[in-house]
Amino acid sequence: MKQKCGEKMAVSADYIAVIDSGVGGISVLRELVRLMPKERYLYFGDSANAPYGTKSAEEVISMTDATVKRLMARGIKALVVACNTATAVAIHMLREKYPDFIIIGIEPALKPAVNRFPQSTVGIMATPVTLRGEKLKRLIAANPHPDIRLIPAPGLVELVEAGLANSPQMDAFLTPVLGPFVGKLDGLVLGCTHYPFATAAIRRILGNTTVLFDGGEGTARQTQRRLSDAGLLYDGPGCVVFENSLDDPHIYKLCESLMEENYG
Ligand code: DGL
Repeated sequence: MKQKCGEKMAVSADYIAVIDSGVGGISVLRELVRLMPKERYLYFGDSANAPYGTKSAEEVISMTDATVKRLMARGIKALVVACNTATAVAIHMLREKYPDFIIIGIEPALKPAVNRFPQSTVGIMATPVTLRGEKLKRLIAANPHPDIRLIPAPGLVELVEAGLANSPQMDAFLTPVLGPFVGKLDGLVLGCTHYPFATAAIRRILGNTTVLFDGGEGTARQTQRRLSDAGLLYDGPGCVVFENSLDDPHIYKLCESLMEENYG
């Protein structure tokens, strides 16, 4: 698939916009491209303002609002909020503001984790904003389970943004976060789109027995369903355009490598 980086181009109504606080949403973009390779994608990462997950809900709402307003003005056919943090606090605002528009928001893949491990311990690792949000409380209430552990990981996003997703620094960061759970978790929900890129480091600490769940694939399937129902599927040629608020060659290099590298 053709990829373009950092070229500000006019976007037509054929494009699906995919947004995140930074490069993390590329883990969702990969699933979208795998499922719908004939679509055109505009990926916008707000790396200049990342991380969102340690900011106030009001700040995240205002940053998400500004990004979406700019994208809507350029003409897109659907919006995928590939950021659990922005979905947690801003998805209602977006749906109220653009009621007729296709808007899909990722949320932690708790349901498949609870279905697979109904009795044994399941962890949800996510940003502080996601973990304290009402949306997650409702998701947990809808998927009752006797032993869910909430695992905040502030600082992980910054390492992924710095290109250190699979590095000794990531291992050093994750050891105190996940060390207490070694041998105790059957499932771990990766409730932030940056975290799948740290899969290798997570496995080095937790081993291979903990099953990892992330919401990327489910979000891609839901996007396909909504586009198909609206008769808006595009028949190629597919492409991906990367834009980022940092507008720096390093960030575009990172976008390309996260898009292509095997992180499992
Ligand atoms: N990737 C985002 C998420 O899924 C946001 C991380 C952040 O900026 O803190 O939550």
